[in-house]
Amino acid sequence: MLAKAAGLGADMVFLDLEDAVAPLEKEAARDTIVEAINTHDWGDAVLCVRVNAWDTEWTYRDVVHVVENASERLDELMLPKVEYASDVRALDLLLTQIEKVTRRQSTVGIEAQIETARGLINVEEICAASPRLETIIFGPADFAASTEMPVLTGGVQIPEYPGDHFHYVFSKILMAGRATGLQVIDGPFLKIKELDALRDYAMRTRILGYDGKWALHPDQVAVINEVFTPTQEQFDTALDILEAYEKATTEGAVGERKGAVMFGDEMIDEASRKMAIKFVSRGERAGMARSAG
Ligand code: GLV
Ligand code: MG
Repeated sequence: MLAKAAGLGADMVFLDLEDAVAPLEKEAARDTIVEAINTHDWGDAVLCVRVNAWDTEWTYRDVVHVVENASERLDELMLPKVEYASDVRALDLLLTQIEKVTRRQSTVGIEAQIETARGLINVEEICAASPRLETIIFGPADFAASTEMPVLTGGVQIPEYPGDHFHYVFSKILMAGRATGLQVIDGPFLKIKELDALRDYAMRTRILGYDGKWALHPDQVAVINEVFTPTQEQFDTALDILEAYEKATTEGAVGERKGAVMFGDEMIDEASRKMAIKFVSRGERAGMARSAG
Protein backbone atom coordinates (compact mmCIF):
# COMPACT_ATOMS: atom_id res chain seq x y z
CA MET A 1 0.00 0.00 0.00
CA LEU A 2 2.75 2.45 0.93
CA ALA A 3 4.70 1.75 -2.25
CA LYS A 4 1.64 2.28 -4.43
CA ALA A 5 0.37 5.43 -2.73
CA ALA A 6 2.42 8.00 -4.64
CA GLY A 7 1.29 6.77 -8.05
CA LEU A 8 -2.44 7.03 -7.42
CA GLY A 9 -2.92 10.62 -8.58
CA ALA A 10 -3.54 12.27 -5.21
CA ASP A 11 -1.93 15.68 -4.59
CA MET A 12 -1.00 14.67 -1.08
CA VAL A 13 -0.29 11.41 0.75
CA PHE A 14 -0.41 10.92 4.48
CA LEU A 15 1.00 7.97 6.34
CA ASP A 16 -0.99 7.18 9.45
CA LEU A 17 0.17 6.51 13.00
CA GLU A 18 -3.26 7.31 14.46
CA ASP A 19 -6.55 5.50 14.02
CA ALA A 20 -5.53 3.20 11.16
CA VAL A 21 -2.86 1.63 13.41
CA ALA A 22 -3.78 -0.86 16.15
CA PRO A 23 -2.57 0.24 19.60
CA LEU A 24 -0.16 -2.69 19.89
CA GLU A 25 1.39 -1.78 16.52
CA LYS A 26 1.96 1.92 17.24
CA GLU A 27 5.66 1.72 18.07
CA ALA A 28 6.64 -0.57 15.18
CA ALA A 29 4.64 1.58 12.78
CA ARG A 30 6.99 4.52 13.38
CA ASP A 31 9.90 2.61 11.83
CA THR A 32 7.78 1.37 8.94
CA ILE A 33 6.81 4.96 8.17
CA VAL A 34 10.34 6.34 8.42
CA GLU A 35 11.61 3.63 6.11
CA ALA A 36 8.85 4.27 3.61
CA ILE A 37 9.55 8.02 3.58
CA ASN A 38 13.24 7.47 3.08
CA THR A 39 13.08 4.75 0.43
CA HIS A 40 9.99 5.18 -1.78
CA ASP A 41 9.70 7.60 -4.66
CA TRP A 42 6.91 9.98 -3.63
CA GLY A 43 6.86 11.90 -6.90
CA ASP A 44 5.58 15.43 -6.40
CA ALA A 45 2.96 14.51 -3.79
CA VAL A 46 2.96 16.50 -0.57
CA LEU A 47 4.11 13.96 2.04
CA CYS A 48 2.66 13.99 5.53
CA VAL A 49 2.54 11.77 8.62
CA ARG A 50 -0.45 11.77 10.96
CA VAL A 51 0.77 11.43 14.53
CA ASN A 52 -1.39 10.44 17.48
CA ALA A 53 -3.40 13.07 19.36
CA TRP A 54 -2.07 14.79 22.49
CA ASP A 55 -4.54 12.89 24.72
CA THR A 56 -2.61 9.64 24.12
CA GLU A 57 0.82 8.62 25.36
CA TRP A 58 2.28 8.35 21.84
CA THR A 59 2.42 11.85 20.38
CA TYR A 60 5.83 13.10 21.51
CA ARG A 61 7.61 9.92 20.51
CA ASP A 62 5.79 9.84 17.17
CA VAL A 63 7.03 13.35 16.45
CA VAL A 64 10.59 12.88 17.70
CA HIS A 65 11.09 9.49 16.09
CA VAL A 66 9.60 10.37 12.72
CA VAL A 67 11.05 13.85 12.28
CA GLU A 68 14.51 12.94 13.60
CA ASN A 69 14.78 9.95 11.30
CA ALA A 70 12.85 10.91 8.18
CA SER A 71 14.58 12.71 5.33
CA GLU A 72 13.67 16.22 4.28
CA ARG A 73 11.18 14.60 1.86
CA LEU A 74 8.74 14.68 4.78
CA ASP A 75 6.79 17.90 4.26
CA GLU A 76 4.44 18.05 7.19
CA LEU A 77 2.77 16.41 10.19
CA MET A 78 -0.95 16.07 10.71
CA LEU A 79 -2.27 16.55 14.23
CA PRO A 80 -5.64 14.88 14.90
CA LYS A 81 -8.33 15.89 17.41
CA VAL A 82 -6.99 19.41 17.86
CA GLU A 83 -9.03 21.15 20.55
CA TYR A 84 -7.03 24.23 21.53
CA ALA A 85 -4.56 26.57 19.84
CA SER A 86 -2.03 25.37 22.42
CA ASP A 87 -2.20 21.85 20.93
CA VAL A 88 -0.75 23.29 17.73
CA ARG A 89 1.71 25.51 19.61
CA ALA A 90 3.04 22.50 21.53
CA LEU A 91 3.73 20.65 18.28
CA ASP A 92 5.31 23.78 16.81
CA LEU A 93 7.71 24.10 19.78
CA LEU A 94 8.69 20.46 19.61
CA LEU A 95 9.32 20.70 15.87
CA THR A 96 11.44 23.82 16.33
CA GLN A 97 13.80 21.95 18.66
CA ILE A 98 14.00 18.87 16.45
CA GLU A 99 14.76 21.01 13.41
CA LYS A 100 17.64 22.66 15.30
CA VAL A 101 19.11 19.37 16.47
CA THR A 102 18.83 17.67 13.07
CA ARG A 103 19.88 20.83 11.18
CA ARG A 104 16.89 20.42 8.90
CA GLN A 105 16.95 22.92 6.04
CA SER A 106 13.20 22.99 5.44
CA THR A 107 10.42 23.64 7.94
CA VAL A 108 7.92 20.92 8.80
CA GLY A 109 4.38 22.15 8.17
CA ILE A 110 1.31 21.27 10.24
CA GLU A 111 -2.15 20.11 9.20
CA ALA A 112 -4.77 20.25 11.98
CA GLN A 113 -7.89 18.10 12.16
CA ILE A 114 -11.06 19.51 13.68
CA GLU A 115 -13.06 16.53 14.87
CA THR A 116 -14.50 17.30 18.28
CA ALA A 117 -17.05 19.77 19.60
CA ARG A 118 -14.33 21.63 21.50
CA GLY A 119 -12.12 21.81 18.44
CA LEU A 120 -14.97 23.33 16.45
CA ILE A 121 -15.68 25.92 19.14
CA ASN A 122 -12.00 26.94 19.13
CA VAL A 123 -11.37 26.60 15.39
CA GLU A 124 -10.67 30.29 14.83
CA GLU A 125 -7.85 30.44 17.39
CA ILE A 126 -6.59 27.05 16.22
CA CYS A 127 -6.28 28.28 12.63
CA ALA A 128 -4.20 31.25 13.81
CA ALA A 129 -2.01 29.25 16.22
CA SER A 130 1.22 28.83 14.22
CA PRO A 131 2.89 29.96 11.00
CA ARG A 132 3.56 26.27 10.35
CA LEU A 133 -0.14 25.61 9.83
CA GLU A 134 -0.95 24.93 6.20
CA THR A 135 -4.26 23.12 6.31
CA ILE A 136 -7.37 22.69 8.42
CA ILE A 137 -9.29 19.43 7.98
CA PHE A 138 -12.74 18.30 9.03
CA GLY A 139 -12.87 14.79 10.54
CA PRO A 140 -16.52 13.66 10.26
CA ALA A 141 -16.21 10.24 11.91
CA ASP A 142 -14.68 11.42 15.17
CA PHE A 143 -16.85 14.52 15.04
CA ALA A 144 -20.04 12.46 14.89
CA ALA A 145 -18.78 10.46 17.88
CA SER A 146 -17.85 13.63 19.78
CA THR A 147 -21.27 15.23 19.29
CA GLU A 148 -23.16 11.96 19.92
CA MET A 149 -24.83 11.96 16.52
CA PRO A 150 -26.71 8.67 16.20
CA VAL A 151 -24.81 7.47 13.12
CA LEU A 152 -22.57 4.45 12.57
CA THR A 153 -20.83 5.53 9.35
CA GLY A 154 -18.66 8.62 9.07
CA GLY A 155 -18.87 11.30 6.44
CA VAL A 156 -21.91 10.15 4.50
CA GLN A 157 -25.26 11.78 3.82
CA ILE A 158 -28.00 10.88 6.32
CA PRO A 159 -31.26 10.46 4.37
CA GLU A 160 -33.44 10.95 7.45
CA TYR A 161 -32.09 14.48 7.93
CA PRO A 162 -33.81 17.14 5.82
CA GLY A 163 -30.72 19.00 4.66
CA ASP A 164 -27.06 18.51 5.42
CA HIS A 165 -26.39 17.59 9.05
CA PHE A 166 -22.84 19.01 8.77
CA HIS A 167 -23.64 22.27 6.99
CA TYR A 168 -22.87 24.46 10.00
CA VAL A 169 -19.67 22.57 10.73
CA PHE A 170 -18.47 22.74 7.12
CA SER A 171 -19.15 26.48 6.99
CA LYS A 172 -17.58 27.32 10.34
CA ILE A 173 -14.35 25.48 9.51
CA LEU A 174 -14.26 27.04 6.04
CA MET A 175 -14.60 30.59 7.40
CA ALA A 176 -11.88 30.06 9.98
CA GLY A 177 -9.53 28.56 7.40
CA ARG A 178 -10.15 31.20 4.75
CA ALA A 179 -9.80 34.04 7.26
CA THR A 180 -6.30 32.79 8.09
CA GLY A 181 -5.22 31.79 4.58
CA LEU A 182 -5.18 28.02 5.16
CA GLN A 183 -6.18 25.26 2.79
CA VAL A 184 -9.49 23.76 3.88
CA ILE A 185 -9.99 20.04 3.36
CA ASP A 186 -12.95 17.73 3.91
CA GLY A 187 -12.27 14.35 5.53
CA PRO A 188 -13.13 10.77 4.66
CA PHE A 189 -16.19 9.17 3.08
CA LEU A 190 -16.27 5.73 4.60
CA LYS A 191 -18.48 3.82 2.14
CA ILE A 192 -15.58 3.16 -0.18
CA LYS A 193 -17.55 1.16 -2.76
CA GLU A 194 -20.23 3.84 -3.24
CA LEU A 195 -18.54 6.13 -5.73
CA ASP A 196 -21.69 7.92 -6.91
CA ALA A 197 -22.63 8.74 -3.34
CA LEU A 198 -19.07 9.97 -2.78
CA ARG A 199 -19.33 12.24 -5.85
CA ASP A 200 -22.61 13.65 -4.60
CA TYR A 201 -21.35 14.25 -1.07
CA ALA A 202 -17.96 15.65 -2.13
CA MET A 203 -19.78 18.20 -4.31
CA ARG A 204 -21.27 19.76 -1.17
CA THR A 205 -17.96 20.87 0.29
CA ARG A 206 -16.60 21.69 -3.18
CA ILE A 207 -19.49 24.08 -3.74
CA LEU A 208 -19.04 25.71 -0.34
CA GLY A 209 -15.41 26.44 -1.28
CA TYR A 210 -13.31 23.60 0.14
CA ASP A 211 -9.99 22.86 -1.56
CA GLY A 212 -10.14 19.06 -1.50
CA LYS A 213 -11.10 15.90 0.26
CA TRP A 214 -9.46 12.78 1.64
CA ALA A 215 -9.43 9.53 -0.28
CA LEU A 216 -9.33 6.31 1.73
CA HIS A 217 -9.10 3.99 -1.25
CA PRO A 218 -7.47 4.30 -4.70
CA ASP A 219 -10.91 4.21 -6.39
CA GLN A 220 -11.91 7.39 -4.56
CA VAL A 221 -9.02 9.46 -5.92
CA ALA A 222 -10.34 9.91 -9.47
CA VAL A 223 -13.81 10.90 -8.25
CA ILE A 224 -12.43 13.45 -5.81
CA ASN A 225 -10.04 14.92 -8.39
CA GLU A 226 -12.96 15.23 -10.80
CA VAL A 227 -15.14 17.03 -8.25
CA PHE A 228 -12.43 19.44 -7.11
CA THR A 229 -11.12 20.30 -10.60
CA PRO A 230 -12.98 22.91 -12.68
CA THR A 231 -14.83 21.59 -15.73
CA GLN A 232 -13.38 22.55 -19.12
CA GLU A 233 -16.33 24.89 -19.59
CA GLN A 234 -15.70 26.65 -16.28
CA PHE A 235 -12.00 26.92 -17.05
CA ASP A 236 -12.60 28.40 -20.52
CA THR A 237 -15.27 30.81 -19.25
CA ALA A 238 -12.98 31.97 -16.45
CA LEU A 239 -10.23 32.74 -18.98
CA ASP A 240 -12.75 34.61 -21.18
CA ILE A 241 -13.85 36.69 -18.17
CA LEU A 242 -10.25 37.58 -17.33
CA GLU A 243 -9.63 38.64 -20.92
CA ALA A 244 -12.81 40.71 -21.20
CA TYR A 245 -12.11 42.39 -17.87
CA GLU A 246 -8.50 43.15 -18.79
CA LYS A 247 -9.62 44.70 -22.08
CA ALA A 248 -12.36 46.79 -20.45
CA THR A 249 -10.16 48.10 -17.67
CA THR A 250 -7.03 48.92 -19.70
CA GLU A 251 -7.99 49.83 -23.27
CA GLY A 252 -8.99 53.31 -24.41
CA ALA A 253 -8.17 56.86 -23.41
CA VAL A 254 -8.64 58.49 -20.01
CA GLY A 255 -12.33 58.33 -19.07
CA GLU A 256 -13.03 55.40 -21.41
CA ARG A 257 -11.67 52.53 -19.32
CA LYS A 258 -14.45 50.70 -17.52
CA GLY A 259 -14.47 48.85 -14.20
CA ALA A 260 -17.79 47.14 -14.93
CA VAL A 261 -18.75 45.80 -18.36
CA MET A 262 -21.13 43.35 -19.98
CA PHE A 263 -19.88 39.82 -20.57
CA GLY A 264 -22.56 38.14 -22.67
CA ASP A 265 -25.72 39.00 -20.78
CA GLU A 266 -24.16 39.45 -17.37
CA MET A 267 -22.20 42.22 -15.78
CA ILE A 268 -18.62 41.60 -14.66
CA ASP A 269 -16.35 43.67 -12.47
CA GLU A 270 -13.34 43.30 -10.16
CA ALA A 271 -15.16 40.70 -8.04
CA SER A 272 -15.72 38.62 -11.19
CA ARG A 273 -11.98 38.74 -11.85
CA LYS A 274 -11.33 37.45 -8.33
CA MET A 275 -13.78 34.57 -8.84
CA ALA A 276 -12.38 33.70 -12.26
CA ILE A 277 -8.76 33.68 -11.14
CA LYS A 278 -9.52 30.84 -8.70
CA PHE A 279 -10.84 28.60 -11.46
CA VAL A 280 -7.83 29.36 -13.61
CA SER A 281 -5.25 28.65 -10.92
CA ARG A 282 -7.00 25.42 -9.86
CA GLY A 283 -7.31 24.30 -13.48
CA GLU A 284 -3.70 25.08 -14.27
CA ARG A 285 -2.58 23.21 -11.17
CA ALA A 286 -4.51 20.20 -12.56
CA GLY A 287 -2.76 20.57 -15.93
CA MET A 288 -5.72 22.06 -17.85
CA ALA A 289 -5.32 24.11 -21.03
CA ARG A 290 -7.79 26.32 -22.87
CA SER A 291 -9.97 24.54 -25.43
CA ALA A 292 -9.01 25.14 -29.03
CA GLY A 293 -11.19 27.60 -30.96
C1 GLV B 1 -11.03 11.39 10.42
O1 GLV B 1 -10.04 11.31 11.07
C2 GLV B 1 -12.35 11.30 10.97
O2 GLV B 1 -12.43 11.08 12.19
O3 GLV B 1 -13.32 11.47 10.22
MG1 MG C 1 -10.50 11.03 13.16
